[in-house]
Amino acid sequence: MCAKQVKQAPREVPTTGHVWDGIQEYDNPMPRWWLWVLYLTIIWGIGYTIAYPAWPLISGVTQGVIGSDQRADVVAEIKRFDDANAPIKAKLVAADLATIPGNDELKTFAVSAGASVFKNNCAQCHGSGAAGVQGKGYPNLLDNDWLWGGDMTAIHTTIAHGIRNTSDDDARLSQMPAFGVDGILDNDQIGQVVQYVLQISGQDHDAALATPGAVLFTDNCASCHAEDGKGIRDLGAPNLTDAIWLYGGDAATLTETITKARYGVMPAWADKLSEDEIRAVATYVHSLGGGE
Ligand code: HEC
Ligand code: HEC
Repeated sequence: MCAKQVKQAPREVPTTGHVWDGIQEYDNPMPRWWLWVLYLTIIWGIGYTIAYPAWPLISGVTQGVIGSDQRADVVAEIKRFDDANAPIKAKLVAADLATIPGNDELKTFAVSAGASVFKNNCAQCHGSGAAGVQGKGYPNLLDNDWLWGGDMTAIHTTIAHGIRNTSDDDARLSQMPAFGVDGILDNDQIGQVVQYVLQISGQDHDAALATPGAVLFTDNCASCHAEDGKGIRDLGAPNLTDAIWLYGGDAATLTETITKARYGVMPAWADKLSEDEIRAVATYVHSLGGGE
């Protein structure tokens, strides 16, 4: 053997035999550093699946030897918050409803907890700012015009039991007759009573029609909307004399409301939210501006 390097001809590297447009592919070995990185990643990957939850089993997954469980971490974290809030929630549930808005500690907690309950459960119908969404029939909760009442007890009852739903026996209930569809009033009479509603809500109207409309109103509507048209809360019958409308105050919408009636439904929450959540969201709604 001779130690001296012999000058060689340029190394002939074998090709893979692939040819594209006359370009051949060398069959060079992978660079060593690259291979080491590959082996290390494989070893790391195996180690990781041993240490952490990884492989799916028929039910569940392998748990990993170091006992990491992010789901349990989240549960523990939530429990930590719940435990921290438990005393104030207990106070909220024990308090006399009417006193909550006047109690700074309870009110601060309830309004912030209630705002998140509202976003998750109520905003889809009442709008994220509680101003009622585009769709008609969802009342604005920011004003002090209430269908069923705006003190803490009334708001709490409305939320807990809902309105005209079939799931809660204590739901608020009332039903305006469909005067046209049920043949209680004919089209001319509906036209007259519409003009009267336009009159009492301060809009342009035809006085010749509104005069007989007033008589029809007394006979057919006053039992729920009151003689003066200002509504009766026990019946959820809205005030027809203000400019605030659930469905609309123009002649066409009034005609439709009176012909077909509406029957707005709100779900009950007593079975979906805890009592502290219902009280929190009631306090939140009460705090929005129209609380009584
Ligand atoms: C599926 C739609 C829907 C959801 C969800 C909903 N509401 Fe309602 N809510 C209504 C409708 C419709 C009315 C009006 C019913 C009527 O005509 O009397 C109403 C009425 C109310 C009223 C009575 C307002 C008044 O003037 O007396 C309150 C208070 C209220 N909702 C609060 C809430 C809160 C708080 C939540 C969430 C926990 C909620 N609502 C979720 C549809 C909904
Ligand atoms: C049995 C009670 C009852 C009677 C009688 C009644 N209403 Fe109503 N009315 C209601 C209730 C409750 C509502 C709330 C809407 C709903 O049904 O969801 C309402 C809603 C309305 C609205 C919609 C108001 C808005 O803000 O959009 C109009 C308009 C109206 N009534 C007019 C009349 C007229 C006119 C008559 C008589 C011809 C009449 N109502 C008779 C109970 C009654």
